[in-house]
Amino acid sequence: MPKTHFIDLNALKVEDWDKLVSLAIQMRENPGEYHEYCRGKILATLFYEPSTRTQFSFQSAMYRLGGQVIGFDNPGTTSISKGESLKDTIRMLGGYADIIAIRHPLDGAAMAASITSDIPIINAGDGGHLHPTQTLTDLVTLAVEKGGFDNHCIGICGDLRYGRTVHSLIKALSCFRGNSFVLISTKELTVPPYVKEVLDKSGCRYTYADTLEEAMPLLDVLYMTRIQRERFSSPEEYEAQKGIYILDGEKMKRAKDDMIVMHPLPRVDEITTEVDNAPRAAYFRQARNGVFARMALIYTMLEGSLCGGDLTEGAFEIKDKRCRNKRCIKAFEYNLPDLAYDSHEGTVCGFCEQPVM
Ligand code: NCD
Repeated sequence: MPKTHFIDLNALKVEDWDKLVSLAIQMRENPGEYHEYCRGKILATLFYEPSTRTQFSFQSAMYRLGGQVIGFDNPGTTSISKGESLKDTIRMLGGYADIIAIRHPLDGAAMAASITSDIPIINAGDGGHLHPTQTLTDLVTLAVEKGGFDNHCIGICGDLRYGRTVHSLIKALSCFRGNSFVLISTKELTVPPYVKEVLDKSGCRYTYADTLEEAMPLLDVLYMTRIQRERFSSPEEYEAQKGIYILDGEKMKRAKDDMIVMHPLPRVDEITTEVDNAPRAAYFRQARNGVFARMALIYTMLEGSLCGGDLTEGAFEIKDKRCRNKRCIKAFEYNLPDLAYDSHEGTVCGFCEQPVM
């Protein structure tokens, strides 16, 4: 059976998302019943970038399934600090673990890892690109809180440019019927072209809004995000963007009674703490759902019943062009193939989806 990786949710069939979400909800209802599911299996968590929720929910998920966890959250304490390549680290880990969850500051790193890995790879966030396990968590939350994934008006606010959770979420929700989006951000932090292309192709309605006030009354779901300070090219650029969108009790009064507020967390200042205790504030419940989403994912991947996930399908090798994204794994890791595929925006890099030139 071909190995299935989990790099981009959209590489799997929507039926598989449903299967994962249903299993996560069952696990959420009876968390104690699954402690034999991954007995004898080892998850390796390779965190090249800071994390609280993703890292610990992966660990908690594996322990709740009866499995064990190895890994690092500081590459400085591993041979990576001696110059070891991602490829070698991944190849070797294949002999130590059964499945790998990797978070990395470079776009496309999880995809690069999957090319050389002998064991399944899970993308736990690759730079400012994608974060599919957060989206799985978000889908579980929407299923529990709103009864499903279609016919919602979803406002997404904050850093739509560098927010990987936003990119994965839009890619997923635009596959469902009747959804519309209100993109609430400054012009500088709007969605990148590969996400806009997904929206255009999907036929979902989407509009832009400059302020939270104007968007609030329209929304069924408000997805707040942090301005991703670590991804800006200069401190000045970040300073110019921070603190513009702040959700507070006053703005909440403009929302529908059953609108829910989601946030992948961590929050900085974009939601005031007075909102936390409102029944409509779903973000801490959402964080808890991350454990069950990851339990369902790890179990299903190890059991081998997830199909697809091969992102090299449809991609081809390019000779005369290359990826110009300085934050792409291609700019740092040698020996990666020059993968690309065709999109409406022209030919794009097979790792980070940015145009090649
Ligand atoms: C997010 C991430 O790391 O992309 N957090 C998370 O995984 N829950 C969002 C963020 O860091 O702002």
